[in-house]
Amino acid sequence: SVIRRADYRAPDWLIPDIALDFDLDPALTRVHATLSVTRNGDHERPLRLDGDGLIPLEVKVDGRILDQQQWHLDAGALIIPLSGDAHSVETLVELAPESNSKLMGLYASGGLLCTQCEAEGFRRITFFSDRPDILSRYSVRLAADKARFPILLANGDPIEQGDLDGGRHWALWNDPFPKPCYLFALVAGDLACNADRFVTMSGREVALGIWVKENDLPRTAHAMEALKNSMAWDERVYGREYDLDVFNIVAVADFNFGAMENKGLNIFNSRYILADPETATDIDYDGVEGVVAHEYFHNWSGNRVTCRDWFQLSLKEGFTVFRDQNFSADMGSHAVKRIEDVRILRAAQFQEDSGPLAHPIRPESYMEISNFYTSTIYNKGAEVIRMMALMLGAERFRAGTDLYFDRHDGQAATCEDFVAAMEEGGGIDLGQFRLWYEQAGTPHVRALLTHDPLTQSVELTLEQTIPPTPGQPVKQPMAIPLRTALFDPATGGHRGDELLMLTEAQQRFTFTDFASTPILSINRGFSAPVIVETNRSQADLAFLSARDDDPFARYEAMQQLMVNVLVGRIAGQQVDESAVVAAIRAMLTDPTLDPAFVAETIRLPSEAYLGDQMPVVDPDAIHAARDALQARIGAELEPLWRDVHAKTKANAFAISPAAKGARKLHNAALHYLVAAGAPDGPAIAFTQFGEADNMTERQAALGTLANGDSAEREAALDIFYNRYCADALTLDKWFQTQAFALHPDVADQVEALGRHKDFTLTNPNRVRALYGAFAGNQWGFHHESGKGYRLVADCIIALDKLNPQTAARLVPPLGRWKRFDQGRAAMMRAELQRILAEPGLSKDVTEQASKSLE
Ligand code: ARG
Ligand code: ZN
Repeated sequence: SVIRRADYRAPDWLIPDIALDFDLDPALTRVHATLSVTRNGDHERPLRLDGDGLIPLEVKVDGRILDQQQWHLDAGALIIPLSGDAHSVETLVELAPESNSKLMGLYASGGLLCTQCEAEGFRRITFFSDRPDILSRYSVRLAADKARFPILLANGDPIEQGDLDGGRHWALWNDPFPKPCYLFALVAGDLACNADRFVTMSGREVALGIWVKENDLPRTAHAMEALKNSMAWDERVYGREYDLDVFNIVAVADFNFGAMENKGLNIFNSRYILADPETATDIDYDGVEGVVAHEYFHNWSGNRVTCRDWFQLSLKEGFTVFRDQNFSADMGSHAVKRIEDVRILRAAQFQEDSGPLAHPIRPESYMEISNFYTSTIYNKGAEVIRMMALMLGAERFRAGTDLYFDRHDGQAATCEDFVAAMEEGGGIDLGQFRLWYEQAGTPHVRALLTHDPLTQSVELTLEQTIPPTPGQPVKQPMAIPLRTALFDPATGGHRGDELLMLTEAQQRFTFTDFASTPILSINRGFSAPVIVETNRSQADLAFLSARDDDPFARYEAMQQLMVNVLVGRIAGQQVDESAVVAAIRAMLTDPTLDPAFVAETIRLPSEAYLGDQMPVVDPDAIHAARDALQARIGAELEPLWRDVHAKTKANAFAISPAAKGARKLHNAALHYLVAAGAPDGPAIAFTQFGEADNMTERQAALGTLANGDSAEREAALDIFYNRYCADALTLDKWFQTQAFALHPDVADQVEALGRHKDFTLTNPNRVRALYGAFAGNQWGFHHESGKGYRLVADCIIALDKLNPQTAARLVPPLGRWKRFDQGRAAMMRAELQRILAEPGLSKDVTEQASKSLE
């Protein structure tokens, strides 16, 4: 049951056209499909149509009903031997969307009927050749009860609609662009529309619609703004124009991940559409903007040019993440966006890359493709595109993408096609660079700077090593682009900002005319997704944290300064913490700095990130050290925190970058004030909680209170619950804030919350809010009793029976056992074994748990 990249074979049969007829009903839906099939190449193989849980009620070829001997089922697939080269094949199946708890295929969510097909959900709807290199033109007829399902949507353009007997009605949709079946979608329900329009660069008018439940309409403005901005941005930056007369987005409450780029009919997890100041944080607002852009950008990077097979997933996902990251940077602050993106990369992807589930951005094999929608495919994939864009420069990169879109429009392409287009369009040799697609693992780069006063020269020695990963014990040196500058500590200036290409295992770079030792600024802008180790002193880092003109490098210097202090403290060494306090003071009192940048930079590295810096993660020691440093920074700068907190108090709510920055710093100040142990800390937090006119400040206050015990904590949690218990997305925050709290009893609290009447395994957002957040809470999840492991494993076992895809996403935190002490490692392994022993375990969880034990 392992699928290998090397086994790719062109399809035996093509399906240029498909007509689908849906008779929709939550309990019993009938799907009639008519496929035009044509033999592809010279072979005698039968037609094989994938199916998952389908029973053919009728099979016809060229209008004639086949009897049971003329077809058979093989592993769910319908096999039909055919003699000629072109036929019309019809099938009829019945579905029960309301009992589809996997949320793949056609399912019911909050009174709606909707679909999710990527990667292999279409085979749960009808028999079809469910692979992305089968491109078909779709014509879709929907019929449903008019009162319950007044709105009927599908891909492409609306053609016709009408009424039927018995209170039913129908609609016909037609998508002129041939597409793979994973982009198929339909929605039926009682939906209201935020309608708008966009005129494309060639003057075509597009009708835009964001469809939600009537009472959610006021929460769709930000998503609509983001959509129009995305459409304009893709025209301006990539020359890509929208291609249909309508573009619809539907928000649904039950969804396995963020959103889906179905052609002309994007379907979203409602958390990435709905936003208003009362219920959404600034992070939520940014999430809406970023995901709306991401799905829209897929119209070119994914839909017009799609993937040949699922091993090429990063072709569309890495590139599209890169595009949405740059869009968001253009809409706000480039510096802050880069810091946020690198933090996500390090938190999720670096951990994945150093564990048992490490895989290259173009994997070689899989059991269940759903398990490969990973941070590696998405975020590292984006970094690989970013490196190419950096090496080429904006103009040549654009020439490369123009060539790529032009050459492969209407095709199912490969990662190699993309790289080849970059080489030709951009005029560069990417021979060695291709290793980024093949080799897993995060490269380590050791950078040593030495100065020779006699020759007045500086030598930079760079050494790369790539750790072994599953199936890849030995690695070849990669091509690593490192933006580098050398600072003169006397003047504060630096020479150049050079792009050094590290291509060998060890390489030396010489710089002349340096009277004294400069300070090294390297991997500026995080030009390569690598771990850099340097011989820079704390004084050098303090200098860079104050003077580096590359904002990312400045942030990085500050983080490294803090990491060194914390790692030293954990190791029981005497460490000078005053440099950290001084650096934070300097940032807080520099009026020229962007408050959002300051807030990012003065934040201590997370407990998980600190764990990544240690040979064996010690969750308790990490927590204690970080807590103590936080308290010290809080106490020593207490007047400053009070001052910053008072000065950043907002007037009227706005969603501008300046207002968001002020709120970020406001919350950071509150956090340090409370950490300082100021007697009035909880009261100040409680006041902020009560008076805030926005969720960003309210949730931050709640989160700060949740870390400790106080009357204010309990009161705030009660108030929050009572105010928002009817709003699922906001109630998720109540669960999440508690699961994420750095509270000594968090495991017990999560256990109790798992039995709360508002907890349910049927809604993936709720599961992620409680168990997903908890599994990311290093101190709580790795409680020495093993209770955290048991809770998450229990959840995986129970959820697997309903929704294997979402259950499998909770496995990786248990797979990191090698990073922990023997006691914890044994308990984590025991839970993985307990999961694997479960009868009837899904392919999804089996793959993740068994690989995690290896
Ligand atoms: N293509 C979607 C997106 O990134 C995500 C699909 C995820 N599918 C899955 N089986 N996990 O925009
Ligand atoms: Zn995507």
